[in-house]
Amino acid sequence: MPKLTLNNKSYQCESDETVLDTLLSNNVDIAYGCRQGGCQCCLIRSPKQVPPSDAQKGLKETQQAQNYFLACMCKPTEDMDLAEVGAEGLFFDATVDSLKSLNPDTIELILEYKDELTFKPGQFINLKREDGLVRSYSIANLPSPEKKLELHIRKLPNGAFSEWVHDYLEEGHVVSLQEPNGDCFYISGKPEQPLILIGTGTGLAPLAGILHDALMQGHSGPIHLFHGSRDVDGLYWVDKMKELANRKENFSYTACLSGDNVPDGYSAGRAHQVALDTYPKLDGSRIFLCGHPEMIKETQKKAYLAGASLKDIHADAFTVSSDKTN
Ligand SMILES: Cc1cc2nc3c(=O)[nH]c(=O)nc-3n(C[C@H](O)[C@H](O)[C@H](O)COP(=O)(O)OP(=O)(O)OC[C@H]3O[C@@H](n4cnc5c(N)ncnc54)[C@H](O)[C@@H]3O)c2cc1C
Ligand code: FES
Repeated sequence: MPKLTLNNKSYQCESDETVLDTLLSNNVDIAYGCRQGGCQCCLIRSPKQVPPSDAQKGLKETQQAQNYFLACMCKPTEDMDLAEVGAEGLFFDATVDSLKSLNPDTIELILEYKDELTFKPGQFINLKREDGLVRSYSIANLPSPEKKLELHIRKLPNGAFSEWVHDYLEEGHVVSLQEPNGDCFYISGKPEQPLILIGTGTGLAPLAGILHDALMQGHSGPIHLFHGSRDVDGLYWVDKMKELANRKENFSYTACLSGDNVPDGYSAGRAHQVALDTYPKLDGSRIFLCGHPEMIKETQKKAYLAGASLKDIHADAFTVSSDKTN
């Protein structure tokens, strides 16, 4: 069995264990969240050995070149020396500025930060609770001198972090957050390219960020946002988006409902299906997909088959930790 060495201590990996599993079972303090390669907060480095490529997926080239990898995605095949556990040093404080209900399950959380923070709307941050629990949330707003971040957080039944945000957090509380991450954001340089934004639930948060960024940067091509949920209560900002679509000639908005009750003004069906029916040919379009991981997997495949280039399909899967002990 491969052996991990960290700070002059060695840990034996059991068969089929990830580096994260081994470190946690030996009580090593390492930050982690999704355990599925999505949040990047279990970042770690192997100065001497090149990590398996699967464990480096989604990392920046500069990080890959320095042998950084995701501990939750690495099943070691050889002994590894480890350094710089987690991104602990990269967390800093932010204060809760306000909390507002967006729909029965979702709140808008505004955080105010003091440190310098560079972000692109649509990227995500990792939030950390005092006990070390970490979860990722996407940024819905544009950077501004007020130094605020807008997050949309849906309360999941028995969701450790989302229930805490909904039931405990109040104005003035301090939370820790990590540098923004992710590559789901507006890319300038092709202002005429059609943009198709597809999201479920709080997937609207990054899509709203991308939309506002595109409009702010003078995107002139058509932009179409499809936002879906099972029923009307699962959506939010319907009137706000309709009003924006009335004001902006190049912006269209479709609210989609996959349940049985579909009132006037909504499209019947799942958001990605309605979008793919509306645009059966996607050659030349840039597609942004945010929300449920299954929806994203299916749509990535279908968008590619409909002609979208892989490099033009950007996705943020809101993976939920599969381990209820964390
Ligand atoms: C890149 C990224 C960006 C994200 N952005 C956002 C965001 O902007 N807004 C947001 O709200 N979340 C977002 N998430 C998800 C978020 O990070 C958390 O996973 C989520 O809030 C649940 O955490 P929790 O601790 O409350 O739930 P946990 O305690 O981790 O567990 C949730 C439990 O609910 C179950 N479950 C999973 N999905 C559902 C579901 N759809 N309905 C009911 N139960 C379910 C799981 O099986 C699990 O048992 C994002 C995730 C990633 C990776
Ligand atoms: S990427 Fe490893 S815990 Fe999220």
